[in-house]
Amino acid sequence: MAFMTVQTAPFDDQKPGTSGLRKKVKTFQQAHYLENFVQSTFNALGDCRGRTLVVGGDGRYYNQTAIQIILKMAAANGFSHVWVGQSGILSTPAASCIIRKYQAFGGIILSASHNPAGENGDFGIKFNTANGGPAPESITSSIFNNSLEISEYLISDSDDIDLAEIGLQKLDGMTVEVIDSVTDYAELMAQLFDFEAIHGLLTRGDFRMRFDAMHAVTGPYAKAILEKRLGAPEGTVINGVPLPDFGEGHPDPNLTYAEELVAEMFSKHAPDFGAASDGDGDRNMILGNNVFVTPSDSLAILAANAALIPAYRGGLKGVARSMPTSQAVDRVAEKLGIEAHETPTGWKFFGNLLDADRATLCGEESFGSGSNHIREKDGLWAVLFWLNILAVRGLSVAEVVNRHWQEFGRNYYTRHDYESIPTEQAQALMQHLENQLSDLPGRQFGGRTVDYADNFSYRDPVDDSVAEKQGIRIGFKGGDRIIYRLSGTGTEGATLRIYIESYQADRNKQHQDTQQALGDLIELADQLAMIHDFTGRTAPTVIT
Ligand code: G1P
Ligand code: ZN
Repeated sequence: MAFMTVQTAPFDDQKPGTSGLRKKVKTFQQAHYLENFVQSTFNALGDCRGRTLVVGGDGRYYNQTAIQIILKMAAANGFSHVWVGQSGILSTPAASCIIRKYQAFGGIILSASHNPAGENGDFGIKFNTANGGPAPESITSSIFNNSLEISEYLISDSDDIDLAEIGLQKLDGMTVEVIDSVTDYAELMAQLFDFEAIHGLLTRGDFRMRFDAMHAVTGPYAKAILEKRLGAPEGTVINGVPLPDFGEGHPDPNLTYAEELVAEMFSKHAPDFGAASDGDGDRNMILGNNVFVTPSDSLAILAANAALIPAYRGGLKGVARSMPTSQAVDRVAEKLGIEAHETPTGWKFFGNLLDADRATLCGEESFGSGSNHIREKDGLWAVLFWLNILAVRGLSVAEVVNRHWQEFGRNYYTRHDYESIPTEQAQALMQHLENQLSDLPGRQFGGRTVDYADNFSYRDPVDDSVAEKQGIRIGFKGGDRIIYRLSGTGTEGATLRIYIESYQADRNKQHQDTQQALGDLIELADQLAMIHDFTGRTAPTVIT
């Protein structure tokens, strides 16, 4: 067995997006493609000798092949110890948990989140630092710069590791430790939540829940925690076996893609609680009997009820939400007298706030929420948080939501996505909006006055780093908003996301249909962006 230096040439498309590098499987399968990115990552970290690493992924097609390559490269680059999830499986939150628990130098997570998987689907890779969170921009841009100049990479020619067998193995001088994918994560959850109360709720006979793992990574986690540990009846978890192509589904837990669960939760004999998670287990969707909780409301409700949860009984230090997420949680923060931060889209922007203890709970409108227990968003954590609230308060999901609106008001909220638009069209549309920004403040549209219009820029309060052009915001007096941005995670053309929000304090007006309540703002958003003229589209592809 020996280490080899392999000559290579750069690829020009290895710039990490909102969450790592995501490309078609076929792109990753090109000779040297994955290797170039991994070496560029190791080079960005400096001297890797003696360092430790966590490696795992969401189980999608190419996961194990990629892991074998990464292990051989880690050995050749001098890493001394690597923890790998059994069969290559680690949900994103579990990987974050394990990096922190074993004080690893960092981790490589293989996932393209909810993007479709399989031979013709997507693959992804990202690096997380020692705090368990996604690498900050300083590291991702250094990875990208390295990828543009790379001329060789290091790899061992030793045999593959047996990823199915738990225990220690050697790969040249490096120790590979295959660990159970679920145990450490499940232990952490048991420390955070009142498992006894949740056990009581799930076994009392008149409470039914359904969890849809969408044939992706959370199946084994949900079964171990909800069914085995917390006593939920077998069958509570559906689509619980992770498949390399996610059963040809699109494991994005929203009203469009989690159709099986949504149909059941909006049926006549719906369960009391429904939830789903995504490809890599960091997203969540929360439903009650015939109700859907928007992720923005969910974050606000978690914050307002945090004192009921053992881990957060001592109080929250602050909350943080991504800019397009509704401002519902800000109202809770105001009442609690804690800081509320507004960050650009992407979990990596929460890392500094969590590390500096300036935020305890964080969330995004894109079905992501989490806390300082790890440095990623966490799907099952949100589900357990909700179960803990329901168990302690003895209310239904609808009652919890309605009481929240009565107390804080309701932020009607929707996101309209236009997927796979040709990139030039999307850019022209954004430029058209950008050109209008300076003229908009003060203008009136159907009774609303524009308060501000800008392209969001964020200065991190901890390290003063600045992220510019993070989305176009049109804010109206009174708090209503329209926001436009282009997705940073897609792999085909561009995806335009439009986020629309309107606040309603009047209790008698809090029960309208969301699309109707926001109808005039939706129309205005359409007009200002001239969506049809630029894209030829007459309707969004996905509405959440
Ligand atoms: C999307 C979401 C964003 C999330 C990211 C990773 O990114 O909008 O909130 O952090 O996926 O899960 P986007 O495609 O909008 O760049
Ligand atoms: Zn995800």
